[in-house]
Amino acid sequence: MQSFEGKVAVVTGGGRGIGGAIARALAERGAKVAVISRSESSCGATAEAIHADFPGAAKAYAVDVADHEAVQALGKQVLADFGSVDILVNNAGVTRDGLLMRMKDEDWMAVLDTNLKGAFNTVKAFMRPIMKSDQGRILNIASVIGLMGNAGQANYAASKAGLIGFTKSVARELAGKAVTCNAIAPGFISTDMTDVLPEKVREDIMAKIPLGSFGKVEDVTQLVLFLAGPGARYITGQVMAVDGGMTMQ
Ligand SMILES: NC(=O)c1ccc[n+]([C@@H]2O[C@H](COP(=O)([O-])OP(=O)(O)OC[C@H]3O[C@@H](n4cnc5c(N)ncnc54)[C@H](OP(=O)(O)O)[C@@H]3O)[C@@H](O)[C@H]2O)c1
Repeated sequence: MQSFEGKVAVVTGGGRGIGGAIARALAERGAKVAVISRSESSCGATAEAIHADFPGAAKAYAVDVADHEAVQALGKQVLADFGSVDILVNNAGVTRDGLLMRMKDEDWMAVLDTNLKGAFNTVKAFMRPIMKSDQGRILNIASVIGLMGNAGQANYAASKAGLIGFTKSVARELAGKAVTCNAIAPGFISTDMTDVLPEKVREDIMAKIPLGSFGKVEDVTQLVLFLAGPGARYITGQVMAVDGGMTMQ
C-alpha cells in the first residue's frame, strides 16, 4: 500500500461522502489529516472515526470554506497543529439546482461561493506551506457537469468549469516550486448529494453511463491517492474524469 507517512493533508468537505472517504484513505496510509466541514458534527464524526482506528491521525475544523477570513485563520491553526501541509484536497461542494428562469441570485452566489471561491480561499491559506513540501499537491474535485453543462445546474456547472480554469492557473503558477495541481471530475457517485435525485432522473443518467452504474466514493479516492502520491510528480494542470465513461469523446 502506498505510504503517506509524514505527510499532512487538508480535506475540505470531509464530513461525509467523497471527502470523508478521501480523509480516511489518506489517514489509513499514514497521513495526518485536517478534516474540514461547516458543521462541527460532521467533520467531528469523520475525525473521531478515523482517530478510533488510527490514533492522532485526524483533527476536525468546523469552517465554512466560503468565508475568506475564517479560512486564513484555519491555515494558521492547521500549521500550528501539524507543523506543515503537503496536500490540499478542495472537495467541499454544494448544489442549489433550478432552471435559470427560476434561479435566484442567492442560489447562484451560494454555489459559486463554496465551490469556487472556497478553493481560492484555501489555496491562499495553504499555498505557502505546500510550496515548502517535497510532495506539494493540490487536488480540486470538479465535476463532469463543469465539462458538459446540465439543464438546471447553471450555477453548479459554472462553479466547476471555473474550478477547472483555476486548477490550470494554479498549476502554472506553482510549477516552479514542483507543486502539482489537478482536477478530478467525478460523474455520478453514490453519496448524499446524489441520493436525493428522483428515480426517473437516476434512470435517465444511468442510460448515459457506458459502465452502467453510479460510481462509489472509492472510485474517486483511488485517483486522489495516485495524484497525491510521488508517482504523479510529473502530472499537473490536468482534468481527469471518474465517470464510468460518461464523457468519453
Ligand atoms: N456525488 C457526486 O455524484 C459528485 C459528482 C461530481 C462531483 N462531485 C463533487 O464532489 C464533492 C463532494 O461531493 P459529495 O457527493 O461527497 O457531497 P456531500 O455528500 O453533499 O458532502 C459535501 C461535504 O462538503 C461539506 N461542505 C459543504 N459546503 C461547505 C462549505 N461551505 N464549507 C465547508 N464544507 C462544506 C459538507 O459538510 P457540511 O454540510 O457540514 O458543511 C460535506 O462534508 C463536491 O465538490 C461535489 O460537487 C460529487
